[in-house]
Amino acid sequence: MHVIHRRGWEIPERQATPEGVYLNHLSRRNFLNIAAGAAAATLVPELASAQRVTDIPDPTKDLYPAKRNETYGLDGRAITPEETNGNYNNFYEFGASKSVAKASQQLKTRPWTVKIDGMVEKPFEIAIDDLVRKMPLEERLYRHRCVEAWSMTIPWTGFPLAKLVELVKPLASAKYMMMQTFQDKDAPGFRQVWYPWPYTEGLTIAEANNELAFLVTGMYGKPALKQMGAPLRLAVPWKYGFKSIKSIVRFSFTDKQPSTFWEALQASEYGFWANVNPEVPHPRWSQATEEDITTHERRPTQLFNGYGPYVAEMYKGLEKERLWV
Ligand code: MTE
Repeated sequence: MHVIHRRGWEIPERQATPEGVYLNHLSRRNFLNIAAGAAAATLVPELASAQRVTDIPDPTKDLYPAKRNETYGLDGRAITPEETNGNYNNFYEFGASKSVAKASQQLKTRPWTVKIDGMVEKPFEIAIDDLVRKMPLEERLYRHRCVEAWSMTIPWTGFPLAKLVELVKPLASAKYMMMQTFQDKDAPGFRQVWYPWPYTEGLTIAEANNELAFLVTGMYGKPALKQMGAPLRLAVPWKYGFKSIKSIVRFSFTDKQPSTFWEALQASEYGFWANVNPEVPHPRWSQATEEDITTHERRPTQLFNGYGPYVAEMYKGLEKERLWV
């Protein structure tokens, strides 16, 4: 996600741009081969230590593994190995490269409070463990399509976002839900002051209530890894990956379309809706195909990342919006 930012001359392009895009200038296939090789050669030990840290007692650990909901299949794709997934991440709070596994271990995920405010019957705060224990955890296999034209598949554990909306009771006047990542804890990315911290994202209430919208608390049958957004992240698999905000601390209900991190940085390239569409190219690259980060197989991208039957209906009447950016 290359961006043109105000102080870009102060940092090398390599730091400002996720590796996938940076190395696109060279060759995407070469990059993926390099990344896979690197993961095998040097990064796996890093994940091993990352897992050890994450395995420090999690008060909700007894809830894993949760029963799989078989409704959501993967159209024959294999699950991305945890080692690969846990070492290939976008988490700008911990750096602009894909190798944030080690840096993200400094994030303290307990205590962790989630704040609910805005247009709701009654604003409240809730400790993550109390929230998780109120919710019906299940496992779902989802495809993940990054705007950078790579994809992976993940066994998430979590609960439908609609269950949170039900708990929160938004007012009828609320049309959107804004989500926000932590900024009250130290992270090296915050020193890159040209980014519009904190990371925020947004959905319409209809999208938040869609059965696919999922709040993730775990993955691979265990509590979530920090680099993948512990202790609470979003998964909205019909949208480009940047919508799936990590390490959420706040849900705020509003009648105005929320400003989002990437849109604030570069609206012409990363919009509010960001629904996957192979026929609408990113301004600087095609979205027609995607590369599996494990197998390097290139396959055609599907409209709504293949989830059209669940979500297409929501966008009827919204054709004038920039639904695909
Ligand atoms: N959430 C926060 N807080 N910070 C980020 O930098 N990156 C986004 C999204 N959520 C990001 C974030 C992007 S660009 C992508 S593709 C996905 O997280 C990556 O999720 P993954 O690392 O689990 O693959």
